[in-house]
Amino acid sequence: MPDTTPSADWVIAVDGPVAAGKTTTSLALASALGLNYLESGKPYRIIAFEALHRNLHIDELHAIESLCEDLLAASDDASVLASDRYAPQALRLRPITALVPLVARIPGVRQHVTRLIHRWAALHPRCIIEGRDIGTTVFPAARVKFYLTATPGVRAERRVRQEPGLAYQAILHDIMRRDYADMTRAVAPLTPADDATEIDTSDLTIEQVVHRMTTMCRKRGIEQPAAGTEAPRQLATPPSTQDT
Ligand code: C5P
Repeated sequence: MPDTTPSADWVIAVDGPVAAGKTTTSLALASALGLNYLESGKPYRIIAFEALHRNLHIDELHAIESLCEDLLAASDDASVLASDRYAPQALRLRPITALVPLVARIPGVRQHVTRLIHRWAALHPRCIIEGRDIGTTVFPAARVKFYLTATPGVRAERRVRQEPGLAYQAILHDIMRRDYADMTRAVAPLTPADDATEIDTSDLTIEQVVHRMTTMCRKRGIEQPAAGTEAPRQLATPPSTQDT
């Protein structure tokens, strides 16, 4: 797959740690402004899913990179992201969620995923992409950048509210472990871009966050396209499994 970096002029980057509210607010913004939407964690989860299915160990770097080559580099039209094989529920099972940050530390994996996201964005201009490194690394020239955050306790409470069977302490521990892994990796660590608008969502409602984000996008000239233009695509997981 050629490494073509599409124009970042119509990209909105939404980064931040797990359960900061990225998915819910990005989907609302996509709908308000008629934007395509991508969860950039999905390709990392696909790699972790396949690595588990093939019994690969995380130390088998060469094998994991060739897996990326087969799955992502071969997907010229980025259609792997919409494949039925990767049902959201399957990609969010606990063993996958535990493995993803380890897979996402591998530089070769990040290169392949970044190329795939560029490919997807070239095919879906006017888009909002959520992740960990969109504003810093994947699209450093994105037109608008947001960095959403919230205290670990608030994020754990949100997860427990989404899935009442989960134990608060275990979720809190999991969130802190994932934050640490994402923030301390050598390549493209989770950190706000210098020019990102940071929003602490701890004490805000979803509507308040979406309002701030929409206002900023409109200030930067991003509006709903005229009626009759092609409907946007949303590659998202169902609300019950979001932002795990
Ligand atoms: O957003 P989601 O929870 O699906 O992301 C799963 C993991 O994928 C993150 O914890 C992170 O390790 C990795 N990821 C990343 N860069 C992105 C998106 C996700 O490293 N842009």
